[in-house]
Amino acid sequence: MPAIYYQECSYTNADNESVLDTLLRHNVAIPYGCRAGACQACTLQADIKLIPEDCQQGLSAEQIRQGYFLACRCIPDQDMQLQKVDLQAQKIPATVSESFLLDEHTLCLRLNCRLRWRAGQYITLWINNIARCYSIASVARLDPFIELHIRVYPNGALSKPLSDTVKVGDRLQLQGPLGRFVYQQDQPEQKLILIGAGTGIAPLIGIARDAIDHQHTANIHLLAAAKTGKNYAEQSLTALQHSVTTFSYQTSDIDNIETILSTEFSNLRGQKIYICGGNEFVKSIRKKCFMLGASPRNIISEEFINFASKAGLDSPDTDL
Ligand code: FES
Repeated sequence: MPAIYYQECSYTNADNESVLDTLLRHNVAIPYGCRAGACQACTLQADIKLIPEDCQQGLSAEQIRQGYFLACRCIPDQDMQLQKVDLQAQKIPATVSESFLLDEHTLCLRLNCRLRWRAGQYITLWINNIARCYSIASVARLDPFIELHIRVYPNGALSKPLSDTVKVGDRLQLQGPLGRFVYQQDQPEQKLILIGAGTGIAPLIGIARDAIDHQHTANIHLLAAAKTGKNYAEQSLTALQHSVTTFSYQTSDIDNIETILSTEFSNLRGQKIYICGGNEFVKSIRKKCFMLGASPRNIISEEFINFASKAGLDSPDTDL
């Protein structure tokens, strides 16, 4: 079994166990969030030659060169000497410029910060030692702020304090932007179908506005799925539909999306599909779109991370 050396102690790595799980099993205090390779909260450093493949995804070229890796993705195949990373140096300060409810469960948070981002990417937001990922709904060229749509859970480790105590003018910290779920500018004449569930609509609103801003000439249709059939973003989608003739949307109960696709979008050949939502939703809609003729290379998707199940926490913030 490989040994892990960290802060002058050694720990035995169990079979098929990640570095993060080894450290947590030995009660080592180490920051982490998603346990799925998305939030970068568990970043550590080691000799580059000892780092297995697939555990540096999303890190910058410079971080990779310096031997940074994600402890939750790293299953060591040899002994590893680890160094702590100064996470503080990776974080960017952001000031809350607006905070209001979109509906009784969904918070809109607008942040001012010095960051280059694209609509549809996500950031990791920190309060104290808690990290959660949220997708960006705003468009850098149009909006002077990063806009996040945050589902507020009664026991949400981050969403609850964001909703209850964080106010305009407060300073938060974030990492990012991360991810490649963005508008692709290569074919402005290609019809876009955007399909989102819950706050998965947030990055799609950004992608639609980004496409329109980039003079996308073909039609853009957004299918908004919600558990209750009630869409928290109805107001902004209606406004967008009224102002741009090529944009349209419809809202549906989450269980009806596949039926709508079969009846109203029976041939998706040549169209580009963006999907965002929970793991099961994304998987089934991807399959459905493929069955309806969409090419796999034209299906782009982003899955939420269920922090509750991944992190073993009672804090189901899931808004990536
Ligand atoms: S990337 Fe490892 S905990 Fe999120």
